[in-house]
Amino acid sequence: MAFKINFYIVQFEDLENKMTEKKLGSKIVGEEYLVLHEFVKKAREKLPKETWDYLIGASETETTFKRNRFALDNIAFRPRVLRDVENVDLSVDLFGHNLKMPVILAPIGSMQDFVDGAGTAPTLAASEFGIMHMISSTCMPGLEEVAKSVNYPKLFQLYVRGNKDWVDDNIKNAMDHNYAGICLTVDLDAYGRRERDLAKRYRTTSRQSASGFEHQMRFSWKDIDRIKSYCHLPIIIKGIATKEDALLAVEHGVEVVYVSNHGGRQLDYGLGGLNVLPEISEAIGNNAKVIFDGGIMRGTDVVKAIALGADCVGIGRLQGFAAAAGGSKAIVRMLELLELEILTALRLLGVNSIFDLDDTYLSKDYSFGKLSALSAFPLIDEGY
Ligand SMILES: Cc1cc2nc3c(=O)[nH]c(=O)nc-3n(C[C@H](O)[C@H](O)[C@H](O)COP(=O)(O)O)c2cc1C
Repeated sequence: MAFKINFYIVQFEDLENKMTEKKLGSKIVGEEYLVLHEFVKKAREKLPKETWDYLIGASETETTFKRNRFALDNIAFRPRVLRDVENVDLSVDLFGHNLKMPVILAPIGSMQDFVDGAGTAPTLAASEFGIMHMISSTCMPGLEEVAKSVNYPKLFQLYVRGNKDWVDDNIKNAMDHNYAGICLTVDLDAYGRRERDLAKRYRTTSRQSASGFEHQMRFSWKDIDRIKSYCHLPIIIKGIATKEDALLAVEHGVEVVYVSNHGGRQLDYGLGGLNVLPEISEAIGNNAKVIFDGGIMRGTDVVKAIALGADCVGIGRLQGFAAAAGGSKAIVRMLELLELEILTALRLLGVNSIFDLDDTYLSKDYSFGKLSALSAFPLIDEGY
């Protein structure tokens, strides 16, 4: 009898182990996510509607956001063949720091609302994968804690919420905490009206306590000159959408022009981001680096932006989906899949190095695409 009981216990333990293994197995993020749309589905399943809408939402009619995708979808490829593409190099340099691929994690505020560790989750993921994260000043746990989380280059993005002393203190704090670059987001002189949130009377945690918006409205090129006079870090201006402003940025000694319309969350009825990228990258030439974001959800999107003159692209919502789906580990997995997609696209285009990409690999195809926020993931609608 005793033997039998033991036997059953052993059996049960075995079963438990198997179940645990199985459970652990299914938790191995690498197996859980094989295609990028799975992060979108998981995030939508897990998040309360308020948070999902905060993440996916854009301002007013959401046309700018949809145009970001439309601009990407309308570009077709012109592949070359027979070029020995066994070894493909994706790595690039940003301010003397090597990025494993030309991608950064864009700043996302209020990450505390949907991922444990908030802003540290993407920082840890970026360091594990080998790219950089740009932490938002409206994201917990703040620049000091994020700086302490891992000894790896990171970028700091600031919204102007105080007078010039306040701004300078924040920038000096980021310098003291060894950030690799300072980003000033400048497309927020009025707060974009995101109607999904407004219609539900919803405010994110960081908006509940936000004040000092008038300082952002007053902010001007004079402030950039002042910051340049003491800041020894590269300055990134995020929210440039015309060649005129890009050229001004260069005149004021800015190191990086960050072409962005804030993922369509600010001015509605803007052009699709990719449509303004060529005029900007042509205008500034080698006088500044160009980061681009807006609608990037796929490896092919990254390839298109680089071919049109970006040095590097920012990942916004896709990062948010992965973070919400499974925190830092899922962000790493998302980056692995993005890398795989970039590599696949480059091999199929006959390109060995990201630096060889140019617009001869692209063509326009206006017959394709519809205005749709999630056009990058058509299989979701088919139940996959
Ligand atoms: C939920 C959310 C929060 C954001 N918060 C910030 C922020 O705090 N600072 C900032 O400069 N941009 C912010 N952005 C804009 C992103 O940095 C980026 O420009 C945009 O998301 C790119 O478009 P994509 O989401 O289509 O990739 C936010 C975007 C989203 C989706």
